[in-house]
Order: sequence, then C-alpha cells, then structure tokens
Amino acid sequence: KSLRIFDTPTEVAGAVADRLAEVLAQHPRPVITFPTGSTMLPVYREIVARSQTGQLDLRGVQGIQLDEYAGVDDHTEASFRAWLHEHLLAPTGITAFHTLPAHDPTPAALASYEQVIASYGGVDLAILGIGGNGHIAFNEPGSPADSRTRVVELDRRTRQANERYWTDSDAFVPTRAVTQGIGTILEAREVLLIATGAEKAEILHEALHGPVSEHVPASLIRSHPHAEVLADAAAGRQPS
Ligand code: F6R
Repeated sequence: KSLRIFDTPTEVAGAVADRLAEVLAQHPRPVITFPTGSTMLPVYREIVARSQTGQLDLRGVQGIQLDEYAGVDDHTEASFRAWLHEHLLAPTGITAFHTLPAHDPTPAALASYEQVIASYGGVDLAILGIGGNGHIAFNEPGSPADSRTRVVELDRRTRQANERYWTDSDAFVPTRAVTQGIGTILEAREVLLIATGAEKAEILHEALHGPVSEHVPASLIRSHPHAEVLADAAAGRQPS
C-alpha cells in the first residue's frame, strides 16, 4: 500500500487538506467519513483554516459518522458527534452529517444507517485513524473483515484512552460503541489512514508489514485497491 511519510503532523495535515481539495474538485457533493481523536486535531485545524480563508469550500460535503459511543444523544457533551461538530462541521459549514443510531442502535436502525449511505451512492473517501491496538473506527482486534455497522464492546485499552473525554457532568463512561464495520469501511472508493506520533510506530509497522489479519484490523486496508497511509516521521519510522 502506498505510504507517504512527512516530517511533522502539520505537514500530514496539509496533505490531507490537499487530498480533500482534489476530491472536492472532482465531485461537488462528495460523501466523506470523518473520524475523531487527537490525530485529527491538526488535520481539522488545517482544513478549518483553509475553509475560513476561502481556499477550501466544504459546504457541499455529505459527512458520514464513523463511530460513536452507544447510548449518547444530541446532548451528550463527550459524544463524537459533539466533538466533530465543534472541530470540523460547524467551523467549515458542513450541514449534511449522517449520524449513527447510537442512542438506540436496534438492528433495524443500524441497517437503515447503511441503507442511507447506499442511497448517497456510497462513500467517496473514508478518512481513518489507527488505535494503539490496531483498531480502525471501533473495530477492535478480532473484528471480522466483512463486519457491518454494529454495536461492539470496547476493550480496556480503548476505554482508558478515551476516559479523558468524559467529565463528571456526563452520566456515564460508556463500555459499548456503535461502529461502521470493517466491511462497511472498505466499501469506500478511497481510504486514507492517518498515523502520527511515536506511540503509533510499532502498530503502524505491523499493520503495513505484518500479516493481513483480523488481529490487526488496520492491516485489512491493504486489501483495498485505493488505500493510502499518511504518517509523520515519528509514526513512520522503522521500530527498532
Ligand atoms: C475515532 C476512531 C478511532 C481513532 C483511533 C486513534 O473516531 O475512529 O479509531 O481514529 O482510536 O485515536 P487518536 O487519534 O486519538 O490516537
């Protein structure tokens, strides 16, 4: 798979913004899946900056939610949708955002979430981060390659990594999430996985050079014909 390594997270962010500009030049209303997380902060900062200076017009984007905690609603401050609203959707004027049925993820609601994506003609670009255990979205190790949008239990490490977002004002720290499945994600016409920071070096190396395996969900993007990985030097170095 193609891997591009940049010196800094800021340069990675610039490359993601450049790719978005190209996608927007090709489709006026592209369907794009957006993740949350610390990797995405500099990326969204760059995208917001370009949108506010008129270099990038994202108002036609049809945003798709990738993952969310189970049980949240529109008023949950630590929800992924609230985070995305603050860091990307509101400042860029993206008003079309298809959310997961996280509050009440019944099988019918999950199926309908996927049907809506199909009715948009599928996803043009899926932007992904990678978890320290190799997860993509909330597909933890062992998630089937053909999994669909579903409710999952969060593993201990993922819960710990996310605890910082939950404050006393929130009623609960969730133990379950709703996530696009790996099969769902890989139906996108293009996949862009972003990894920055030394703590991602080892897992990124495994995902790119180890076996393509459900034990490292991110390795499964290697079966996609148009997947690209953008890393900074710290994440892209060969681990010793
Ligand atoms: C979040 C998501 C997760 C993150 C991953 C990396 O929407 O899809 O898979 O991309 O956990 O998180 P950070 O960027 O915080 O290291």
